[in-house]
Amino acid sequence: METVLLTVDDFVDNSENYTQAVHLLNDGQVVAFPTETVYGLGAVATDEQAVKKIFAAKGRPSDNPLIVHIGTIEEVNRYVVDIPEIAKKCMAAFWPGPLTLVMHVKPNVLAESVTPGMQTVGLRMPDHPVALKLLQTLKKPLAAPSANRSGKPSPTKASHVFEDLQGIIPCILDGGMTGIGVESTVLDVTLAQPVILRPGGVTKEMLEEVIGPVLEPNFEQQKIEATPKAPGMKYTHYAPNAPVYLIEQDLQIMQQAVQTLQQQQHKVAVLAPENFAAVNADYYFSFGHEYELEQMSANLYDALRACDKTDATIILATTTERKGVGTAIMNRLEKAAGGNWYQY
Ligand code: TXA
Ligand code: MG
Repeated sequence: METVLLTVDDFVDNSENYTQAVHLLNDGQVVAFPTETVYGLGAVATDEQAVKKIFAAKGRPSDNPLIVHIGTIEEVNRYVVDIPEIAKKCMAAFWPGPLTLVMHVKPNVLAESVTPGMQTVGLRMPDHPVALKLLQTLKKPLAAPSANRSGKPSPTKASHVFEDLQGIIPCILDGGMTGIGVESTVLDVTLAQPVILRPGGVTKEMLEEVIGPVLEPNFEQQKIEATPKAPGMKYTHYAPNAPVYLIEQDLQIMQQAVQTLQQQQHKVAVLAPENFAAVNADYYFSFGHEYELEQMSANLYDALRACDKTDATIILATTTERKGVGTAIMNRLEKAAGGNWYQY
């Protein structure tokens, strides 16, 4: 299959490209498109055969449910049994935006594979002009996971999607680099107290200002059986080929670690803020300005992916504060590293 890249930016009239994407989707095909978080791989959420193509293209386990993307808030009623008050407040405050709300699904409306064996569905209205225009032209819901091969870091550029899914999907809408760079916050509002199943751009602090106390299990708590979790959480995520180790954001500690590892014949890739550029690693990829969390989240997956284009045998990634979007960054870093810290 040939994979076409269609540019959709604001500089020229792209209506022809949207028409082509909508035509493919109506024809039961999958199309990759940008959102404000990461690129998604979309299929019409009511078309079972089309949704199955998403799982096949990604190599995604069939028990991992998909997020359904909608172009207007009014559509929510079609897919859920009831909208809890808390959800209404969240939609008013954060939609369109990087917040997925898990609610009780209406039976027999969405394709079965979207919510495999589940009573709930995750819905979100993305805040990206391309995603919104696509949804509003299509006038149908789009089931869309991140547009990477399963296990790999999510794509924040069309070229990342191309690298993973070239020859497997027919079309990628190229809208440039995504803004936030980590996936949406997944909030389960079906429980007695709302629970963040996956931290993202809408932070615990932001949610609590609108709906009061919210639970946010950490990496260790998520390993406990009784903790509510997203079904996808048990799978490997965001992992480059070489092993990742987390390390404090400290120049001296980093310099020492790189030296020690190189003496052990390692080729070391360092992922860190730009003031670490002078460290003598074999490879260095920048997280952006020191202490700028938005830059770190925007650059994180691109940096992790860049390691796969090198012959690095080990990756050292600096950590950050678990505050604001730092919680989401640390969640992804801990998954990428399988919880491993560099021991010195
Ligand atoms: O930002 C995002 O959310 C991106 C863009 C494309 O919208 N999408 C995305 O989808 O990250 P995906 O499939 O890569 O991650 C969805 C996560 C998975 O961990 C899945 O298990 C969880 O959300 N999830 C989906 N539906 C759920 C449900 N009904 N209950 C609990 N967790 C759910
Ligand atoms: Mg994903």
